[in-house]
Amino acid sequence: MADASLGAYNIEDLREIARRRLPHGLFEYLDRGTEDDVSLRNNRTAFEQIGLRPRVLVDVSKRNQEVTLFGRSIKMPLVIGPTGFGGLCAYQGEFALAKAAAAAGVPYVLGAASLTAMEKVVEQSGGANLWFQITMWPDRKLCHTLVERARVAGFQALVVLVDAAVLGNREYNRRNGFMIPFQLTWRSAFDLLHFHWLCGVILQYVLREGGLPSHDNYPEELGRRLTSGRTSAGRKRTKTDSLSWEDLRALRKVWPHPLIVKGILSPRDAVLAADCGADGIVVSNHGGRNLDGAIAPITALPQIVDVVGKRLTVLIDSGFRRGSDVVKALALGAKAVLLGRAPLYGLSVAGQAGVTRSLEIFRDEIDRVMALLGCNSVAELAPELLSWNR
Ligand SMILES: Cc1cc2nc3c(=O)[nH]c(=O)nc-3n(C[C@H](O)[C@H](O)[C@H](O)COP(=O)(O)O)c2cc1C
Repeated sequence: MADASLGAYNIEDLREIARRRLPHGLFEYLDRGTEDDVSLRNNRTAFEQIGLRPRVLVDVSKRNQEVTLFGRSIKMPLVIGPTGFGGLCAYQGEFALAKAAAAAGVPYVLGAASLTAMEKVVEQSGGANLWFQITMWPDRKLCHTLVERARVAGFQALVVLVDAAVLGNREYNRRNGFMIPFQLTWRSAFDLLHFHWLCGVILQYVLREGGLPSHDNYPEELGRRLTSGRTSAGRKRTKTDSLSWEDLRALRKVWPHPLIVKGILSPRDAVLAADCGADGIVVSNHGGRNLDGAIAPITALPQIVDVVGKRLTVLIDSGFRRGSDVVKALALGAKAVLLGRAPLYGLSVAGQAGVTRSLEIFRDEIDRVMALLGCNSVAELAPELLSWNR
């Protein structure tokens, strides 16, 4: 019988196995931050500055992690966040992410840049609570058409990415030749000769689907292929630097379900998001992938909850690798945590089973920390259980 732990007892174990499974360029693409990785490191160290202050002699035998997000109950305070290229970490990776989310009873956010058509993800997801994430392209009509497609397909919430006015300066991708459209260099060609990945992922697409996956959620005009075809005109059409609060107001008019703004670090922006009619925000620095030196979201969280906690559902991501990280964010007022890399490490290790393993690790760790803190429910997590180690 296969070992359900996959030999991974924590997220770092999954990361290490993923490192061995993936070509170097792909692993760095998903694992690293930007420039000097300052934000990436700081996202982790910021958690170490928050201590836990347990209460004892509390009957914690009825522990439960359920929370309600936008009127729907979810089994754990987690959401699988949007990450392009799940489909390159494993064959049909987006299906695996959606199915694992459904089985665990948590939402999955499918990104517009993902490699599987949204309608197929809905069909294959096993009834997952699915959210869709967009970026704003210069042709707003194209965006609104995509949003309407997501509504018709049955997505429950819309996430608008706002912290990527331009792409982060990810020098390692250039060094590794890992750019989209993908350009084959001697270095990248050699790197891709990675037996496990080549046979388990790329060959599966070629044999079963007749070719590589593509950006199936993009309109034709933008160019869908990963290997070529994104002309300079197509590139201009995917620029995101003209997005403004007006766009958020316009989206509010066309999207009837929960609208979530992802990439907020400033309390003023959180208030603006609420004023524009958003239902939620994700306090995020994009996992340290865009602006190096951006503050850690967990540091920004208390002030943001202070100003908009009663008006918006405040979510958070970036750097969450332990159940105790999640508990700290919940105690500071976040309603749930989005996971970016953690499920992708699992996905790269063992497809759906690996994603399930990553969620299981979080579930068990959150449960243990809640018990040791003297809490039975997420609602009992509060700032008085924390202490700042400064
Ligand atoms: C490989 C990768 C691709 C990503 N692609 C997207 C994307 O297409 N859209 C988006 O909103 N965020 C994207 N993100 C950011 C994540 O949604 C999330 O904000 C971040 O990964 C959280 O940090 P963590 O990885 O430390 O959990 C991506 C992150 C990674 C690691």
